[in-house]
Formats: sequence, C-alpha cells, structure tokens
Amino acid sequence: MKIAVYPGSFDPITYGHLDVVARAAAVFDRVIVGVLVNPHKATPALPTEERVGVIREAIDECCADDAARIDVELFDGLTVDFCRRRKATFVVRGLRAISDFESELQMAHTNRKLAPEVDTVFFMTALEHSYVSSSLVKEIATFGGDVSQMVPPAAARRLIGRGRGL
Ligand code: PNS
Repeated sequence: MKIAVYPGSFDPITYGHLDVVARAAAVFDRVIVGVLVNPHKATPALPTEERVGVIREAIDECCADDAARIDVELFDGLTVDFCRRRKATFVVRGLRAISDFESELQMAHTNRKLAPEVDTVFFMTALEHSYVSSSLVKEIATFGGDVSQMVPPAAARRLIGRGRGL
C-alpha cells in the first residue's frame, strides 16, 4: 500500500493544487492532503479548520471516483513526523516553474535527511494552472477581484463570504 502525504498551507486551495491531488491519486493507493497549522503565518485567508472543509468539498467535486482514497487532515510540527504517524513513505509536491525548484529541492533534501524512508515525488503543475498561487489569489480576493478561474467554487464561495472574493 503506497501512501503519500501532500503537505501545504492551501490558503486557499487552488486549481493547481487540485490538479496535483488528482494526479497523485492516480499513482498512490492513498493520498493524505496535510494542511499545516501554522500560527505564525500572517493573515490567513481562511482559518485552518475551514480550509479542511473547503478542500474536502473541492475533492469530492473534482475527483469523485478517487475521493474515498483521499484524506484531508490538519497537522502541526514536521511533515516527516506526520508522514510517520500516517505510515506514508512519500511526500508529494507540485512544481510550477523553475522559481519553485530551489526551495523545493532544499525541502526534499532536508526531509530525506530527517527521514530517509520518506521520499519526495514532484508533479509538474498543469500548464493552464501554473501561473496560479495562493498568495496572489489572496491578494486579488482582498481587493474584490474575481478568483473563480483560479480556485474551486468551494473556496471562491468562502472567500466571497468573508468579503474577500468577487
Ligand atoms: O504550501 P506551502 O506553504 O508552500 O507548504 C510548505 C510546507 C507546509 C510543505 C512546509 O513549510 C512544511 O513542510 N512545513 C512543516 C514543518 C517542516 O516539516 N519543516 C521542515 C521542512 S524542510
């Protein structure tokens, strides 16, 4: 049974993230989307508990056939410790552009040093979503811009509900 953790802030989840989730589900038996509880991250668009609900809804909508094999959970502390708790031997991350590569390389090597039994697998984010980032979505939503092409409806609704969308 190959179990992968896809860790991130997902604040909010974007179509780029969802693309990675769907493709990871095609490779691994179980995918656990791990939402990092990070009290130090400045001004979240959505509280972490709400993010879990949004991601669950988005996955049920986009990937119904695989949804039963995809979990969404909060975690804190180290990603590799979360992997060990959940018996995952892979970390999944998306790469949008060269600019992502340096920090992802550093993170993958560090995680491997901390937990040699956990390997990192990268998916190249689909070209049509590779310009999207959660931080830009947050900025656009803060100023009332339309983010409906960047995030799934479950996230767009919450951002609008908080006065941060459309
Ligand atoms: O979506 P993000 O914010 O780019 O995700 C970053 C994340 C959550 C994967 C990374 O910050 C992380 O793994 N944090 C948990 C703490 C940890 O394990 N730090 C060492 C990683 S090298």
